[in-house]
Amino acid sequence: MSSSGREQFGSSLTYIMAMAGSAIGLGNIWRFPYMVGEHGGGAFIIAYIICGLFLAVPCFICEAMIGRRGRRDVYGSFEHLAPGTKWKWMGGVSVLASFIIVSFYCVVGGWSLDFLVRSLSGHLSQGDPEAAAGVFQRMASGTIEPISMYVAFLLATAIIVVGGVKKGIERFTKITTPLLFFLMVAMVIYSVSLPGAMAGVKYLLQPDISKLDASGWACALGQAFFSMSLGMGTVLVYSSFMKKEDSILKGGLWTAVSDTVFAIIAGFAIMPAVFSAGIEPTAGPSLVYETLPYIFAKMGAEAPVLSFVMTVVFFLAILSAALTSSISMLEVCIEHAVHRFGCKRWTAAVVFLIPILALGVPCVLSFGGLSGFKIFGLTVFDLCDYLSSNVLMTLGALAFALFVGWYMKKDDVRDELTNGGTLGLSGKAFKPLYFFIRWVVPPAIIIIFVSTLV
Ligand code: PFF
Repeated sequence: MSSSGREQFGSSLTYIMAMAGSAIGLGNIWRFPYMVGEHGGGAFIIAYIICGLFLAVPCFICEAMIGRRGRRDVYGSFEHLAPGTKWKWMGGVSVLASFIIVSFYCVVGGWSLDFLVRSLSGHLSQGDPEAAAGVFQRMASGTIEPISMYVAFLLATAIIVVGGVKKGIERFTKITTPLLFFLMVAMVIYSVSLPGAMAGVKYLLQPDISKLDASGWACALGQAFFSMSLGMGTVLVYSSFMKKEDSILKGGLWTAVSDTVFAIIAGFAIMPAVFSAGIEPTAGPSLVYETLPYIFAKMGAEAPVLSFVMTVVFFLAILSAALTSSISMLEVCIEHAVHRFGCKRWTAAVVFLIPILALGVPCVLSFGGLSGFKIFGLTVFDLCDYLSSNVLMTLGALAFALFVGWYMKKDDVRDELTNGGTLGLSGKAFKPLYFFIRWVVPPAIIIIFVSTLV
């Protein structure tokens, strides 16, 4: 497949905004706080930052390099850069990973949509704070309601993706991401002021390192990859639209910084309220959606109008952050089908929707009718969540790092990082980064991965 005529992001800012749009999503607002709650609070945050800085950023750079140099989907990029080898199988792995992630991610997207509808009718901001946690349990354990919200969210994702990369992505990211940021900061201030909230602040700021076991490290690594959309081809595909003059290093650092700031702010918005409401921090995937109604109902008791407006805007912003992430996952599948089989984008979308629905519906029902159905002790939802970030994305990122560190020629890697020697800062960063990509990233990922299996 020729790379000529491939659509490109208009500027480096547009690339960074699109990457941040993919990275900042439910992973920050929903997944990060529950991971923090399950793995000992502040200690997990430290592990997360270490994994993010030293492992996720180099892996982002590797994946982006392959994408920009390959200028195709995952399969096509590897076929182009490593002709006649098995590296192209990574295309299949990334489609599998994105298919699994999009299937369970849309469940949480559906919850956000449901909460938006509830907030529009005033249900979230005008309820009894003490009973607020039950709102989520009642909704998620149903059948028709969560499934319809799931389908609506999935269809919205597919419609945007079929609209094309530029039209679909650029429109969304520019307004809603900054809006979400300011709303989250306001929520931190409110959450910290709630009675009993200081216990939550302490939980985040006083790390108990003894709580950080091998599984905590593996989850921190998985969370860093999940949150930066790494290891399954999203960064690769988006970077294949990146201009040759733009800096990959800058793209990686900006994505990492904005993504981490969002996650930590979300932690501080949620965890103090968790303690104030007396919810168990280890509640798992339901944690944030049990806590948010409590925050808004509390706010509503003091300032009903403000709480109403804030709830509606907040869920709108979350929804749009979730959509900019889900479209980036589905994009990997669609790009693959378009390039491999030459089909139209909408045909590819329809073909992928069927298996996504087949896996997604059991994920939705994991909180209701199928909550007792376990595989390896996990519900279908938990299994997809674990399998994607802790296994597929981790191994995918490892493969991308091995490809750049050990398969690509050193000069080609330097050329890609420094744009043919024109980027001074990237030039200075090349030596330590290259060393890291070869000698630190692969062994560290392998050690963390294997230690959890043991
Ligand atoms: N990074 C997204 C989030 O934090 O919500 C989730 C995600 C998007 C994961 C795209 C993987 C991906 F390819």
